[in-house]
Amino acid sequence: MQKDRFFFINPELVYYMETVNLITEDAVAKVTISRPKALNAINSQVLDELSQIIGQIESDPNVRVVVITGDGDKSFVAGADIAEMSKLTPLEARNFLTRGQRLLDRIENLNAITVARVNGYALGGGLELALACDIRIASENALVGLPEVSLGLIPSFGGTQRLTRVVGSSVSKYLILLGKRLKASEALNYGILNEVVPIGELDSAVDKVIDTLLNMAPVALTAAKNAIYMASQTDMYSGQELEVNYASMCFSTDDLREGMNAFLEKRKAKFTGK
Ligand code: CAA
Repeated sequence: MQKDRFFFINPELVYYMETVNLITEDAVAKVTISRPKALNAINSQVLDELSQIIGQIESDPNVRVVVITGDGDKSFVAGADIAEMSKLTPLEARNFLTRGQRLLDRIENLNAITVARVNGYALGGGLELALACDIRIASENALVGLPEVSLGLIPSFGGTQRLTRVVGSSVSKYLILLGKRLKASEALNYGILNEVVPIGELDSAVDKVIDTLLNMAPVALTAAKNAIYMASQTDMYSGQELEVNYASMCFSTDDLREGMNAFLEKRKAKFTGK
């Protein structure tokens, strides 16, 4: 299909841009970063277009799951675009990298649950993007790492912060300072990836995760996501206050009654999101 900017409405919303596209079907939005010649590296155009696509998702309350992936079966995202960055002045670099950080913050803070479908290289900004997602499902050919020091740079789409929150500072230093590129199985052992499957099974593994998420109570899902996020932002006491506030709020939902009644009646719950 020719890539241009247009919408199809019904049965799906399709939003094709030059480097990023979005297909929304029912409650699931699938975002694909597409610069195959550069292994889907993130340049300013990707940042602009991904930002618009995320805006579209933010304004659609029906979206409950977002899947982010890279075009093809070789690369998720091979990092920020090195050719473009090599020409930046420090001020331009600050602008580019801050835009990347803010965009990944928005992805991390979406109400919907985000799944990174890691279909190959997830290096530098690519791993940073995956780390901003809630769940990371990868194919066996994935290679992940934050190798920026080998370029004279440091991870700068939030990677020093997010990787450290996932694996702790000891492992984070080991991986970043040595510029390690991990095989999928190694990244799974570190907890950087959540599941690793053969490439041919990647879509069914992602579909399984989507189905499971769609069968959960939506308000509880977002509350759990937000409460977990606060674990890295606040102290234990404030975090627990927030947790109990979210939990109490769940008691105001029909879905909590339905979930508990379904358990007691030994049947499957049917959630409505209310
Ligand atoms: N930026 C720009 N172009 C990239 C790129 C990147 N991050 N990664 C790959 N490409 C381009 C290559 O330059 C090459 O283009 P040409 O065909 O025009 O030469 C094309 O994609 C294919 O790449 P390779 O020929 O290198 O493919 P390969 O299979 O031999 O190797 C790879 C794949 C291991 C991913 C290798 O390309 C690589 O190491 N890429 C760089 C990874 C990296 O260092 N990422 C971090 C970037 S910095 C960053 O992300 C900063 C930040 O924190 C925000």
